[in-house]
Amino acid sequence: MRVILLGAPGAGKGTQAILLSKELKVPHISTGDIFRSNIREGTPVGLRAKEYIDKGMLVPDELTLQIVAERLEASDCRDGFLLDGFPRTLPQAEALSGIVDIDAVINIDIDQSVLKDRLCGRRCCPKCGGTYHVNTLKDSLCPACGAELIIRKDDNVQTVTERLRVYNEQTVPLIQYYEQSGKLLVVDGNQSVEDVFAGCMVKLKG
Ligand code: AP5
Ligand code: MG
Repeated sequence: MRVILLGAPGAGKGTQAILLSKELKVPHISTGDIFRSNIREGTPVGLRAKEYIDKGMLVPDELTLQIVAERLEASDCRDGFLLDGFPRTLPQAEALSGIVDIDAVINIDIDQSVLKDRLCGRRCCPKCGGTYHVNTLKDSLCPACGAELIIRKDDNVQTVTERLRVYNEQTVPLIQYYEQSGKLLVVDGNQSVEDVFAGCMVKLKG
């Protein structure tokens, strides 16, 4: 199955993508994660992307499309994939439609007033990729693998404010774009992680 996860920064795309990719047995492809691993490794892609990510801006379409097209060519994508954080502009969506047919687009719909707290309290595991919130953690260690958790560099109030502004301006139009194609499934993101996951599965099977 070829699925896109749409949603505002902090809507829970990454959290759901980990669960959904296990359930659907397809790879989880997060453009944000690909950029962050390039930044850690100091690659040319990482150096370029960092300039934008640190400011809360989108990485230019041409660079983003290049990394996605390369990733989708890998053999593990033959039977499907789950795209998290891509596409997020109309040109990206149009370019994707020229590469591959998508089966479903899930929009995790959320009340934007909770997003700043979610993002500024997020803690990420650099070892196993787990995502948590400071309110539900006992200490600074990953509950799954014990590694020291980190705070994403773009999870500060100023950058989060810009990411939300950019989302509303450039990514929200994709909701209508996919609605018109008849592929849009809307799931209420203002629920527990388990209930959002259940909602995604019901819509995908429906
Ligand atoms: P990216 O990494 O994609 O970030 P984002 O879209 O801003 O989304 P987040 O990862 O911040 O949020 P999420 O929805 O995954 O939420 P999560 O599950 O972690 O992109 C980063 C940057 O890379 C962009 O700003 C841009 O510069 C660049 N980029 C990436 N893709 C690009 C593209 N296609 N084009 C151009 N540039 C691109 O959850 C958040 C928090 O909420 C966590 O603490 C979590 O524990 C908690 N939480 C999750 N679900 C729930 C729930 N149901 N209830 C309560 N808390 C919850
Ligand atoms: Mg994410």
